[in-house]
Amino acid sequence: MRFDIITVLPELLESPLNHSIMQRAKDKGLLEVHLHQLRDYATGKHRQVDDYQFGGGAGMVMKPEPISACISKLCAERTYDEIIYTTPDGQMLDQALCNRLSMKQNVLILCGHYKGVDDRIRQKYVTLEVSIGDYVLSGGELAAAVIVDSVGRLIPGVLNDETSALFDSFQDNLLAPPVYTRPADWNGMKVPEVLLSGHEKNIEEWRHEQSIERTKTRRPDLLEKSGDGY
Ligand code: ADE
Repeated sequence: MRFDIITVLPELLESPLNHSIMQRAKDKGLLEVHLHQLRDYATGKHRQVDDYQFGGGAGMVMKPEPISACISKLCAERTYDEIIYTTPDGQMLDQALCNRLSMKQNVLILCGHYKGVDDRIRQKYVTLEVSIGDYVLSGGELAAAVIVDSVGRLIPGVLNDETSALFDSFQDNLLAPPVYTRPADWNGMKVPEVLLSGHEKNIEEWRHEQSIERTKTRRPDLLEKSGDGY
């Protein structure tokens, strides 16, 4: 899977995507991430990418021409399955959307900045607008990093244990159960007996019960989505 990301701050994306699982995914040839500096597509002495908004009001707006030049160049090189714009008024990113995006080949992400992009860019190019939560970030770069990370780890072969993503929180609209490692007794706090029993069926049942219990207490809204009648 290939991500192209258009940004005025590529530095913000380098570190989060160059470590751990994302780096391994790239090393294995399963994930490519290409960063494009928007300023390189701006013209004029100052390579200006933003301007005052029509109608007045505080905050600058990202100009359409450099974005259009960059998107046009990339679209001439390959076909994008999705052109995403990161914005607080977009569709909320959840595991279902991550699953759907992980099946795409080429995804282009445009990172918003300042007051956002000129709306004509959204109308002309953007196929999906994504928010990562009901709060406002200084720019869309961290949202883009969240999208690449949460989607990239779902690409088959990226995680060492192929099944592990299936048991993540949210895959069945349930939160993950608690996990423990050694020592079995830590300062008198003991690991639940069933996990030491080696009895796979009982362990699976216990984990499922714990998932339901956790979801009931922490995120009851998810149970309505699961439709399993817990
Ligand atoms: N840009 C600013 N805030 C954002 C958010 N919550 N999600 C996606 N992009 C954003």
